[in-house]
Amino acid sequence: MADLTTEYLGLKLNNPIVAGSSGLSASVKGVKELADNGAGAVVLKSIFEEEIMFEYDDILKEAGREGVNLDQFDYYDYQLKGEKVKKYSDLIAESKKSISIPVIASVNCVYSHEWISFAKQLEQAGADALELNMFFLPSEFDRTTEEKEKAYFEIIEKVQKEIDIPIALKISYYFSNLGPMIQKLSETGIAGLVLFNRFYSPDFDIDKFEVVSSNVFSNPSDLAISLRWIAIMAERVNCDLAASTGVHDGNALIKQILAGANAVQVVSALYQQGKGSIFTMLKTLEQWMEKKGFDSPSDFRGKMSQAKSSNPAGYERVQFMRYFGGAN
Ligand SMILES: Cc1cc2nc3c(=O)[nH]c(=O)nc-3n(C[C@H](O)[C@H](O)[C@H](O)COP(=O)(O)O)c2cc1C
Repeated sequence: MADLTTEYLGLKLNNPIVAGSSGLSASVKGVKELADNGAGAVVLKSIFEEEIMFEYDDILKEAGREGVNLDQFDYYDYQLKGEKVKKYSDLIAESKKSISIPVIASVNCVYSHEWISFAKQLEQAGADALELNMFFLPSEFDRTTEEKEKAYFEIIEKVQKEIDIPIALKISYYFSNLGPMIQKLSETGIAGLVLFNRFYSPDFDIDKFEVVSSNVFSNPSDLAISLRWIAIMAERVNCDLAASTGVHDGNALIKQILAGANAVQVVSALYQQGKGSIFTMLKTLEQWMEKKGFDSPSDFRGKMSQAKSSNPAGYERVQFMRYFGGAN
């Protein structure tokens, strides 16, 4: 039997599959099912700062009718965040009690420092690590690139001062200079980077002229972006890399490890194929390792990273000229 144990964020995982943050890990029952189905670790559903902000809006509207009293707002502010964080801390503590694999808490930090003082509570509740899900849509016209990028480093620094557990940063690929930015982020002392998050995207209903949600789930073809960037960055970063987006089967899992991923997150596949797909992917990985004579994922991790590849230019080719040049 192959040994699938893997180290990620300094944590020992039974295997490289991490159940990514989603509604499936929003309850103790869901978390337990993911563990029972063989996940190496679970990232809890993010505690959403955006969501907290919406609740503030409601409170402010309410208060607006009778006049806003700032002391009262401060009280609500503290109270509301406190309640959310208490509930989330309970989820962490209960999850830890019911499973033996690592539990990674997740915070969506859209607005910078509001919640940071609560990070300690998540650590005290027993989280093995904290994943910061950080994203500023590049359509914000009133902030410069430098300002937006600076915010990432400021938030990391502040969180690092608050907690001792490992920190992972989950980012998007919306950076003007993605490679160097990933590299710089990896040098901040964080334990890992998750490449990449997937976002709600709009679509149009052309009969009703309404904006609707496009596909919530990824497709297997979405693997290409994270695969390319894991491969390019594998030998260039100073922290672990977790691949996220488009991993729907065991072959995709193998590819991400070959590219250099320490861990591989899955979400859409779990929704679409069921949580049992974790076992199926692990089986494919084991059989492939046996066939190729690898005893452990570390035997082949990064074997196809850009730095080790026999065709490094293949990772940088972006034009389809050869195939769709119009000559035929
Ligand atoms: C229904 C759903 C809910 C999600 N919720 C979160 C979340 O709360 N926090 C987060 O960081 N990512 C969230 N994600 C993103 C996933 O963690 C993951 O990064 C993304 O779906 C890409 O992986 P996949 O291709 O395996 O689905 C969610 C994804 C889905 C489909």
